[in-house]
Amino acid sequence: MDRTDKKKFYITTPIYYPSDKLHIGHTYCTVATDAMARYKRLTGCDVMFLTGTDEHGQKIEDKAKEAGVTPQAFVDAIVDGPRGVRDLWQLMNISNDRFIRTTDDYHVAAIQKIFKAMYDKGDIYKGKYVGKYCKPCESFWTESQLKDGKCPDCGREVQDAEEEAYFFRLSKYASRVQDLLENTDFLEPRSRVHEMVNNFIKPGLEDLCVSRTSFSWGVPVDFDQGHVVYVWIDALFNYMTALGYQNDKYNELDHYWPADVHFVGKEIVRFHSIIWPAMLMSLELPLPKKVYGHGWLLLDGGKMSKSKGNVVDPYLLAEKFGVDALRFFLLRTFPFGSDGNFSNELLIQTINVDLANDLGNLLSRTTAMAGKYFGGTLPEEKLVDEAQDAELITLAAGLRDRYEAQMEKFQFQNALAEVFKVIQRANKYIDETAPWVLGKDIDANGSRLAAVLYNLLETTRICGVLLTPFMPERMEKLLDQLGACENCRSWAAAGTWGSLSQTITVTKGENLFPRIDMDKALEELEALQAAAAAPAQPEIELEPWEEEVDFDTFAKSDFRVVKVKNCEPVKKSKKLLKFTLDDGSGTDRQILSGIAMYYQPEALLGKTLVAIVNLPPRKMMGLESNGMLLSAIHKEAGEERLNLLMLDDGIPAGAKLC
Ligand code: MSP
Repeated sequence: MDRTDKKKFYITTPIYYPSDKLHIGHTYCTVATDAMARYKRLTGCDVMFLTGTDEHGQKIEDKAKEAGVTPQAFVDAIVDGPRGVRDLWQLMNISNDRFIRTTDDYHVAAIQKIFKAMYDKGDIYKGKYVGKYCKPCESFWTESQLKDGKCPDCGREVQDAEEEAYFFRLSKYASRVQDLLENTDFLEPRSRVHEMVNNFIKPGLEDLCVSRTSFSWGVPVDFDQGHVVYVWIDALFNYMTALGYQNDKYNELDHYWPADVHFVGKEIVRFHSIIWPAMLMSLELPLPKKVYGHGWLLLDGGKMSKSKGNVVDPYLLAEKFGVDALRFFLLRTFPFGSDGNFSNELLIQTINVDLANDLGNLLSRTTAMAGKYFGGTLPEEKLVDEAQDAELITLAAGLRDRYEAQMEKFQFQNALAEVFKVIQRANKYIDETAPWVLGKDIDANGSRLAAVLYNLLETTRICGVLLTPFMPERMEKLLDQLGACENCRSWAAAGTWGSLSQTITVTKGENLFPRIDMDKALEELEALQAAAAAPAQPEIELEPWEEEVDFDTFAKSDFRVVKVKNCEPVKKSKKLLKFTLDDGSGTDRQILSGIAMYYQPEALLGKTLVAIVNLPPRKMMGLESNGMLLSAIHKEAGEERLNLLMLDDGIPAGAKLC
């Protein structure tokens, strides 16, 4: 079927803020989005699933400064570095079709055009911002919105903010947004509508401050130097730039926009259901069809956050219990629209009860009996017993429709509950039919036994297909063990009882869901979590040692103390910084150094460094370099680290090192 014949489905996750490594709460939303995307593909839709990272803003700039690296190097490490965002999604088997970074050139250029378009329209104007700012949340608040003087989202201290800034005429769109929220299904669950309307719209929507001048790590406003675009404008438009809006990198806007659904956590519903539609209205663009605000995974009743030191590491859990078991647990246990309390006990219990016991037993008992009594291949002849079989068959045959009804409402927990009702009914059917009793006399009862086992295999197949969006890797293995043909794994076959061949051959394979010893696993987990929380001992790699040189050769090197008078990036070079140095000689010395990845030029002004000054001049990018600055280099956890040699500022320029 051609892509254009299929029903399209465009789904997004929030793009993650790479100020720290991601935790299980972030994983929750991405796994939910992935299950939805896989479900839609299973039903035959042409799916676009977008995720990515939201990389600008003051918090990143501050963190990078703290770490002594450029903001770009800082985010690169968290997004693309070992155990970073991309690695995590690969591990979790996330099937996103696209990954956007807001530092991607095409996105940056598009944001500049978007900002200008709203300015030209008169919906963005220049004014003065006086208010409160919550740095960790990157949010502006008016006095009246604060809760006990603190940020209403995270409860942390806010700071006074006053600066010349651009504003978006949010107030102009207040009644249209209110109408959208109250009179359509744009925002779900419904409870979030009341929250938005009562807490934000009814008290009066003020115009929104959409540019900053107090920091520089953002998309520059190209018609007013010094201003950077408010990070939420930059972030929200990712949903469209990733399809090609205001850029030539992609060309799928007409095909996929408007989005069918944005999945977002509850604390960012405000941005998605008020600010986002208002900006789209300003630009006269179609609105997304739906925003779904999911709940939080809580730990001990509170939100996980790095600063509280209570984050749960998804790597650790996936490696210990398996990716699919973790994916399943997240969506089976917590209702998507509400908060849920995470605990290791609950995770292990869910794996043991649902996967090892209910599903695992059904599969292993059924395939083992097919092997034991029929050498793996069921005979053609079956003896149907309507009275005994009807309930199971009716339940399994209607499962797809009940599951679909829940999935269409994003009720993963209920969809899975429907599947497990059928699995439990199948286990009860084993007890009712007692195949091991029938197996005692195959000549007399073989055809009845074959019918019983067929019903069990067929039920397991239907459940297996419908569980595939949640546990893609394990369910493929399950369907392989059942001997299910390609066609039997389709959406159509999931709704058709009897799709499995009557003479199916099963193979008893590995135990897909081994039982976990709760006490032992908890103990091991605690030890692993404690080790992970302890200050990491990074793996240090040193440069190879050089060969011996005689003293006279060494002594010819002239090392001098130098002071940085000026430092700036070299145009068109990602690596080079150009230093103007005071070397004590009375004439400025120019040195080029390939350290732009590690330092921001302004952070080096006035520093006291060491240079070797008697090297022959060298040209780089058309500029002359007279010497070399000394730095210490090593690798930490596989990553190159560089530290310039810095001396006490009391040492005068030109002092010789010997
Ligand atoms: N960068 C913004 C989103 C911009 S979208 C245009 C952002 N990033 S975030 O990294 O801070 O959060 C990403 C998502 O993870 C949010 O939807 C947030 O709600 C979700 N979660 C973070 N912690 C969570 C839990 N403990 N539980 C569930 N989801 C949580 O916000």
